[in-house]
Amino acid sequence: MSAFDYRNGRLHVEDVSLAAIAADVGTPFYCYSATALGERYDRLARTVAPSGAAIAYAVKANGNLAVVELLGRLGAGADVVSEGEIRRALAAGVPAGRIVFSGVGKSREELAFAIGKGLHQINIESAAELDRIAAVSEALGATAAVAFRVNPDVSAGGHDKIDTGRRTDKFGLPPDEAIRLYHAAAGLSRVVPVGLAVHIGSQVRDVEIFAKAYGRLLDLSARLRSEGLDVSRLDLGGGLGVAYRDGERELPLDAYAGLLADVARRSGARLTIEPGRWLVADAGVLVATVNTVKQAGERRIAIVDAAMNDLIRPTLYDAHHPVWPVDRNEAAPRHPSTVAGPVCESGDILAVDAPLPDLGAGDLVAIGKAGAYGAAMSSGYNGRLLAPEVLVRGGEKAVVRRRPSHDEAMALESLPRWSSAADAA
Ligand code: LLP
Repeated sequence: MSAFDYRNGRLHVEDVSLAAIAADVGTPFYCYSATALGERYDRLARTVAPSGAAIAYAVKANGNLAVVELLGRLGAGADVVSEGEIRRALAAGVPAGRIVFSGVGKSREELAFAIGKGLHQINIESAAELDRIAAVSEALGATAAVAFRVNPDVSAGGHDKIDTGRRTDKFGLPPDEAIRLYHAAAGLSRVVPVGLAVHIGSQVRDVEIFAKAYGRLLDLSARLRSEGLDVSRLDLGGGLGVAYRDGERELPLDAYAGLLADVARRSGARLTIEPGRWLVADAGVLVATVNTVKQAGERRIAIVDAAMNDLIRPTLYDAHHPVWPVDRNEAAPRHPSTVAGPVCESGDILAVDAPLPDLGAGDLVAIGKAGAYGAAMSSGYNGRLLAPEVLVRGGEKAVVRRRPSHDEAMALESLPRWSSAADAA
């Protein structure tokens, strides 16, 4: 049974009614199921166990402290891409020894912070970054374990904007440069090259695509070893594809786990994977209240109080998310309805042609599969407040991020001293 299910016609998350949460915290809000998060993690951990792969959760997918803490407690490490995410992972109790620092443009300050904390590994994406790490680790008198992220020239096959492993993408190092830098790193006193990394993008549904990318990594590690270097770790990135539509293909998990076991056997290296979306997407919904329903030409549009600032995926990637009425009446006929927000942009659309019953002002809808890259990518556009996040476990609920007040949202801003309003203040 899914964590989101109807009971007596009302959509629940585990044992809590979404309408009850809405009455409590107001809409829009994100709601996550702790049980669904845990089940997802356990399933992945169990399936990949034969390969010995460590799971470093990609915090960017959903960085809420409660989510990171829950996954960390179950055994996940963290894949992070900024000082902010390192701090989040540490604050959530993930040990530094299980944190991998990825990212294409880490600053000197971020590297110093990471090295000072003794993170498990830093994935290098440029020659300049190796220089910076060498300088910072010398200055701190600390040692940095580094892997080199290779660009394998393999497309993930999903949306253009979430593809990262093609030759002309900004990510990773060309293989020859990775080899050159690996040798250079081996000659440094405070930098230890431990392995190679790859992340070709998101929403990979075909194991063959991973196999191709990992094959390049295996070839490179064989070459490095033949040149006398130690390659003890391979970081295989994230990108495990999930289904957003009914009947859509997910990444076949068993085949993926089989591939990992094969890579582990052939390389003899310790593997890490960095899934984000796969762990959290299904475990979250965004709940909104219908403001009004209008007809625009042949289009029926439900304007709701959630918007592109809360969930930007449909606007940015034409992504599909299912929409469910919170109160279900099986007998009610359904019509294709567009669900749009109140933001002043035509692109502020959350769903196109969602099969919904007649809705009226005040009705609640839940936008499904919103646990990944939902709240994490939200903004305050149009002066809108960040939506709160609620975590449910069984019959209990916890507000794990509250809605800020408007004063809080403006608190970081000030008027210049030459403004007459500032004089008056
Ligand atoms: N590792 C690295 C180095 C990454 O850059 C990413 C995602 C991941 C792991 C996790 O990928 P996942 O398992 O979640 O696919 N905002 C987009 C997705 C961007 C992903 C960026 N990097 C979306 O909403 O579809």
